[in-house]
Amino acid sequence: MNRVVFLCRLEELPDGQSRGFDPLKTGRDTVLVVRQGRDLHAWRDDCPHQPGAAMAWRKDAYLNRDGSRIVCHAHGARFDIATGVCTLGPCQGQALTRVPLLISTDHVYAVLSGAD
Ligand code: FES
Repeated sequence: MNRVVFLCRLEELPDGQSRGFDPLKTGRDTVLVVRQGRDLHAWRDDCPHQPGAAMAWRKDAYLNRDGSRIVCHAHGARFDIATGVCTLGPCQGQALTRVPLLISTDHVYAVLSGAD
């Protein structure tokens, strides 16, 4: 059964930046969101190279220097922001797991499956 969990207001996601969330109150961020203009891309903070490995090197730091890729800072894997596919690094060709989002007015919600 899916759960819809509030993440934040849209204005709290600056264009070109990433942010981590702990929607299930596990004590660590398990969902990351990247905003690119009008588009939001949400992924599980769970690197396919080593499942369970946290990807950010500090709170909300999921992107490379120019903001063009998601980076797993454990071993440097780079992921396409829109597709989640690893384009460089030890898990090249594998992909992050997408988290569906719902946006209602200016509120952003994650749709979490029963497995999350
Ligand atoms: S755990 Fe992500 S690149 Fe190794």
